[in-house]
Amino acid sequence: MTRKIPQSVIIATILTVVIIIAIYLLTSLPTGGESVKIQNASFTGGDKCASCHQRVTPDIVFQYATSTMSKAGVKCEDCHVVEEDNPMGYNHEGFRITSTPTPKQCSRCHVRETEEFEHSRHAGAAWMALKGWEGFSPEQKKLTESIPELTRGPNGIPTATRNALIDIEGPKVTPAACETCHSIGKPNADGSIGNCNKCHLRHEFSLSQVRKPEVCGQCHLGPDHPQEEIYHESAHGVMYATEGDKWNWDQKPGRLTVQDMPAPTCATCHMSGFEGQGSTHEVGTRLSKFLFAPVSKDRPNAVQNRRNMQEVCYNCHSKPFIKNVYDRADSVTSFVNEKVTEATEIINGLIKDGIITSEPFATQLSFDAFDLWHYYGRTAKFGAYMQGPDYVQWHGVYPMLNRLNKVKEEAKRLRAEKRSGIK
Ligand code: HEC
Ligand code: HEC
Ligand code: HEC
Ligand code: HEC
Ligand code: HEC
Ligand code: HEC
Ligand code: HEC
Ligand code: HEC
Repeated sequence: MTRKIPQSVIIATILTVVIIIAIYLLTSLPTGGESVKIQNASFTGGDKCASCHQRVTPDIVFQYATSTMSKAGVKCEDCHVVEEDNPMGYNHEGFRITSTPTPKQCSRCHVRETEEFEHSRHAGAAWMALKGWEGFSPEQKKLTESIPELTRGPNGIPTATRNALIDIEGPKVTPAACETCHSIGKPNADGSIGNCNKCHLRHEFSLSQVRKPEVCGQCHLGPDHPQEEIYHESAHGVMYATEGDKWNWDQKPGRLTVQDMPAPTCATCHMSGFEGQGSTHEVGTRLSKFLFAPVSKDRPNAVQNRRNMQEVCYNCHSKPFIKNVYDRADSVTSFVNEKVTEATEIINGLIKDGIITSEPFATQLSFDAFDLWHYYGRTAKFGAYMQGPDYVQWHGVYPMLNRLNKVKEEAKRLRAEKRSGIK
């Protein structure tokens, strides 16, 4: 005879199982898990900012709690609390803080990255491209002049001149346009330059994020520098789009290998420490030509810089393969250089003969001449080095030839008008 189990025991057992399952589910849910993490994070206990801001700006505290830096014990005040005499500081809840930490604060711990960044065209040069030297202190000017890629010699890279569009478009437009991108290198009132936060989005400062092309694509896109679009057309970009979710994005700095990432992103080619090559925030050190210029010439250190970039390629490609890619791209560059020079000579001839003024963007002709090099010539060159054949061809060389034709016809018409005395 089997004894019957009492009903109360069955109910108690079922209830216990349900409660255990419920507790398991609740603690493994993302929100539950993260709030446990926040309470455990070293900064909340001792950090007055975080414990109050958990109520004021919970998103910031939550985001920051998940970052590598908070796990390494870096606190809110390490970035936000500033010296008494810092012109960007103000009093807040018994502290002297800034709401916009600059590279000055980051450099307390990241000296190398900050110095490299300051010596790249992402820093002072990016702001000079808009306003010339306006807004630079003598020290900031001196630092910017020491950027190795800041050539203003015979190559004619007019970086110190105020850009004409800044005044034509004016302050009603440019803060929401040019300045949003170029402020990556804006001089700050505390003496530092630029904004690390433009790439390292706050408050996670996540490596896996900054290694992805979308971060660079905030600025490197559109008709005049379609690097993001070109990347997505390339085999590298296709690998990223189709396989990228399996890559090891969080690998520690300096430890990335082809096993983490079998195809490169913008960061891999231009910045990352990859297969033993050191990482760099000096983005010019792997570039051999001034591609953004109307006529592209060699950079200072062109030979070494080209070698630096090719060292990255060689981890995945053979030397002859890479030589061929560069030869083809150099040949596109010299084709574009010839056509841009031809257009420039026509325009300069018209100015010299008093047929048009040298005032920028005064006529349709000057818009066409600008598009010729600034959109199409550049796009063709970028496409050639970064594997975007459609950008070399249909967004590049073809419309460039079309504009050259327009420039020639318009020049002929204006000269004929002048000869026949029509005004
Ligand atoms: C007792 C509560 C409390 C403490 C402690 C505290 N804050 Fe705040 N904080 C606030 C409140 C309230 C605001 C205003 C929020 C608003 O206006 O939406 C604020 C705003 C801020 C802002 C934004 C200011 C702006 O203009 O955008 C920053 C940055 C900030 N706090 C940083 C800090 C830092 C860093 C610490 C520690 C050194 C700190 N806070 C300590 C309550 C606090
Ligand atoms: C590693 C440096 C760093 C740490 C640590 C840090 N912040 Fe920030 N914080 C920044 C940067 C950079 C910005 C944005 C500056 C800018 O907009 O240019 C910022 C902006 C802010 C703002 C203004 C945001 C807005 O949108 O109005 C608040 C508030 C703030 N931080 C609070 C905190 C709190 C609270 C903590 C700690 C939980 C913290 N920060 C930790 C670097 C840091
Ligand atoms: C008080 C020192 C300190 C300050 C100030 C500081 N950091 Fe850090 N940072 C660290 C430490 C420590 C690490 C972790 C290093 C490690 O674990 O490998 C780190 C790591 C990082 C990483 C790599 C993150 C990762 O996932 O590996 C980035 C990016 C970073 N910091 C950016 C910044 C920026 C930008 C600023 C200024 C807004 C800043 N840091 C300010 C100490 C600091
Ligand atoms: C979407 C972001 C973005 C906007 C908006 C933008 N730029 Fe740029 N600009 C860039 C990037 C990215 C480059 C780098 C291209 C390269 O190196 O190939 C650049 C390059 C330049 C250069 C050539 C580099 C130099 O230092 O001579 C000049 C000049 C320039 N921009 C001026 C302007 C002006 C003026 C405006 C507004 C009328 C403007 N930009 C708007 C992102 C932007
Ligand atoms: C907030 C906007 C912004 C973001 C984000 C940005 N850049 Fe730039 N970048 C610029 C501007 C502006 C310039 C042109 C500076 C100049 O020459 O005047 C530039 C120039 C460059 C150059 C050419 C430097 C030289 O010496 O001529 C490289 C390479 C570059 N960026 C790579 C990157 C990569 C890789 C990323 C992402 C990890 C990135 N950028 C993210 C704005 C940005
Ligand atoms: C496979 C490697 C590779 C990838 C991926 C790559 N680039 Fe490049 N990039 C190059 C090479 C090579 C050049 C031309 C180098 C030279 O001048 O010798 C170049 C040139 C540039 C320049 C031109 C600077 C100038 O002189 O005007 C910018 C800006 C740039 N890349 C940004 C990006 C961005 C943003 C991405 C991602 C959307 C990206 N690159 C992806 C290899 C790469
Ligand atoms: C143009 C975008 C960009 C800007 C601006 C930028 N970084 Fe980075 N940073 C990166 C990329 C991409 C990596 C990842 C490199 C890698 O994959 O090895 C990185 C990595 C880092 C790391 C991890 C260690 C290392 O060196 O790889 C630190 C720390 C860091 N950056 C600090 C800073 C500081 C401080 C600033 C401002 C002075 C800054 N970054 C500005 C793109 C940027
Ligand atoms: C991390 C590895 C890696 C690095 C670094 C790398 N590539 Fe690639 N590359 C690949 C892979 C994977 C493919 C896709 C292969 C295929 O097309 O089947 C590819 C494809 C290409 C292609 C297209 C080949 C074709 O048949 O269409 C070219 C061109 C190219 N890479 C050039 C370069 C250049 C130039 C560099 C350096 C500036 C470089 N790559 C850096 C992995 C890499």
